[in-house]
Amino acid sequence: MQSSFQHDVLIIGSGAAGLSVALNLEKHVKVAVISKGSLPSGSTLYAQGGIAAVLDNTDTVESHIQDTLVAGAGLCHEDAVKFTVENGKESIEWLISQGVGFTEEGTSNDPDLKQSSTQHQTNTRDPKTTDTRRYHLTKEGGHSHRRIIHAADATGHAVSSSLCDRVIEAENIEVFESRVAIDLITHKKLFLPGNRCVGAYVLNDKTSHVELFRARFVVIATGGASKAYLYTSNPDGASGDGIAMAWRSGCRVANMEFNQFHPTCLYHPQAKSFLVTEAVRGEGGRLLLPDGQRFMHRFDKREELAPRDIVARAIDHEMKRLGADNLFLDISHKPAEFVKKHFPTIYDRCLEFGIDITQQPIPVVPAAHYTCGGVITDKRGRSDVNQLYVVGEAGFTGLHGANRMASNSLLECLVYGRSAAQDIMKKFDEIPAPPEAPLWDESQVTDSDEDVVLSHNWDELRRFMWDYVGIVRTNKRLQRAKHRIDVLHQEIVDFYSNYKVTNDLLELRNLMTIADLIICSAIQRKESRGLHYTLDYPEQLPVARDTILTPTNFSARDW
Ligand code: FAD
Ligand code: SIN
Repeated sequence: MQSSFQHDVLIIGSGAAGLSVALNLEKHVKVAVISKGSLPSGSTLYAQGGIAAVLDNTDTVESHIQDTLVAGAGLCHEDAVKFTVENGKESIEWLISQGVGFTEEGTSNDPDLKQSSTQHQTNTRDPKTTDTRRYHLTKEGGHSHRRIIHAADATGHAVSSSLCDRVIEAENIEVFESRVAIDLITHKKLFLPGNRCVGAYVLNDKTSHVELFRARFVVIATGGASKAYLYTSNPDGASGDGIAMAWRSGCRVANMEFNQFHPTCLYHPQAKSFLVTEAVRGEGGRLLLPDGQRFMHRFDKREELAPRDIVARAIDHEMKRLGADNLFLDISHKPAEFVKKHFPTIYDRCLEFGIDITQQPIPVVPAAHYTCGGVITDKRGRSDVNQLYVVGEAGFTGLHGANRMASNSLLECLVYGRSAAQDIMKKFDEIPAPPEAPLWDESQVTDSDEDVVLSHNWDELRRFMWDYVGIVRTNKRLQRAKHRIDVLHQEIVDFYSNYKVTNDLLELRNLMTIADLIICSAIQRKESRGLHYTLDYPEQLPVARDTILTPTNFSARDW
């Protein structure tokens, strides 16, 4: 049994980016939001540290711009940085108006006396009357001011809950959970003239049937691709589906070699993907070697608060030098009450594994965390394909350059989510209904009888990406990885052509594309810059250039 749906706007992904688009569209627009899992999902739900914005009189927009440019190692697009930072305060006010309960400042000079709050306010407020000065601001790597607004150490949960509540209330927004977008439907695929996106084929993960979603506008908000690596801070599902789908539909991608590794994920055999926020270092946390010595001063004068690429590389270097499985992050010198109030989630989670962070250091390792590259878009989230928008971590706006500064990504989701919605509204009346499209054809495929091929290839891909395309690279390792991808490619394409689609198969197919894009981009970059560090080209070239990959046999944009 196949189903078919038609909406004005199809949004693929229900993280901060997708829901920002949905909630910024006008109320007469018929919107579908589809999500692989449940409505609250994606990396957004797990964000800890907060959102960077200029909210304090002692801070300036120029300073936030400058810090972002420095962290980005010369590769940020200045216009994108300016656009994002200038819209920061308004985006935070919008979130507050949607009911997000950020942690408030203490009443005295000591912000830590005030009880932190992760309670979500359900009442909406008028953003024009919202005074952002009363919120507590923390600090993270690369920031020269306290400018991270947060909800204790569970900011993503607070943002996601409020936005999901608003979406559920909205009568014009229909939510489809357990839906996995497989591929986009474009005029080209329908043999129609022009270069327009008109919908997507979507696997209903509950019924295992493929459904047809048609729309006048399509928005990809599927998040990042850090699942390409064996160790990651990201939740399951961060398999770069949107980037791979857009690439298959003819969109260019940029700077995929810049995968960010977060320096501090909890190291424990049972603690899958648990991040220890950079705000711990922002509040005085120290990185330690196994013998208790500090070491960051040997790598950067900003020590623990150097940009993330530098800290992750320093940890990787020390672990390799000492043959250590992990290093340590220590906040136990701060008063226990301070630690519990600022980091209640981390305190509770570590305690589950017998680690009392008020008394002892936390074992940590770096892990793949953020995809700085993505589908090339402009300031309105527009991609190379007409009526196809890409927002959030899946997109490449030029904001992050060679290394994303902490807490700039949720901000990007909000700013570009709104500008994409505004652009859709501007064009709304002139874009006709989508054309008819055929239903998904399953007549030539059968159920798979050898799922071991999938699990084996999943493991193999993520392992060689970790070993060969990780924090420190070489030409030889990249060539080995390229060779492995070429072999896997044929196997996965055969599997995809012969068997019915499942979520695992779709994710593996997308991860293979993502890995290929990362490796090809890394091979093209003959220098070390930001997150891309190679022993064969340790120097930075004088001129900074994006790595832009273009799908072959495809004609350029046609707006
Ligand atoms: P996501 O929030 O990842 O959402 C992706 C959505 O797409 C999900 O709903 C998913 O179900 C859906 N989806 C994916 N593929 C498909 C498909 N094929 N079909 C249908 N649906 C699909 N950034 C900050 O700025 N501050 C922080 O403090 C911070 N902390 C972080 C902590 C952790 C542990 C992690 C992992 C990231 C953190 N980040 C932080 C990064 C930030 O959370 C993400 O970059 C951001 O949330 C991405 O939002 P998004 O809407 O683009 O994607
Ligand atoms: C963190 O809290 O350390 C993550 C912040 C981010 O990824 O921006």
